[in-house]
Amino acid sequence: MIIAVDGPTASGKGTIAKALAEHFGLPVLDTGLLYRAVGYQTQLNHGDPDKAADALVACDFPDALLDDPALRYESTGSLASRASVHPAVRRALFQRQVDFANQPGGAVLDGRDIGTVIAPHADAKLFVTASAEERARRRHAEMLGRGVEIGYDAVLADVRARDARDTGRADAPLLRADDAMLLDTSAMDRDAAIAAAIAFVTERTKAR
Ligand code: DC
Repeated sequence: MIIAVDGPTASGKGTIAKALAEHFGLPVLDTGLLYRAVGYQTQLNHGDPDKAADALVACDFPDALLDDPALRYESTGSLASRASVHPAVRRALFQRQVDFANQPGGAVLDGRDIGTVIAPHADAKLFVTASAEERARRRHAEMLGRGVEIGYDAVLADVRARDARDTGRADAPLLRADDAMLLDTSAMDRDAAIAAAIAFVTERTKAR
């Protein structure tokens, strides 16, 4: 069973993907982490993530980088979003994601283009979203909790900039697949969103 979970930044898709993986006993891949590693490695190389050649070199990042806490920083998310625009970068990361999706027994993947490009044949697809204001509110609270001093307006501006870049790029933009369930978590708490996701996947895969 393959489950694809896509959506914009701070929508809760990572939390939902992890909960689905646990519920159905499947391995999970946060594909954003791969793009974050590329963005961060570009910076370590003193390169520019807006330059395709610089970002492509960084696709050779060491696997250990995936465990670096710096990948979780909001600033790394922006580097990742910039590096992910280049088709050569997307090609370089493609096979690793496809192999994960198609492993025996199945998998859960979350990202931006799982249901459309990486696993269009997925058994169940979710598109998790929430209003930009609500996503900024959640991200802001989470950052304050980590001791990061930042204003809400700056977080909202970053959320909007990332939405615009991830949705507007030509190659594999953030897009809801026709057959994906739209899960708007704006007015839902974490448990309600997880319950709705599990109910949908259970129903969708029942007859298989
Ligand atoms: O999900 P995230 O915030 O960790 O992703 C960081 C950036 O990586 C995101 O802004 C765009 C890019 N990304 C992508 O282009 N395709 C994916 N499947 C996952 C992430």
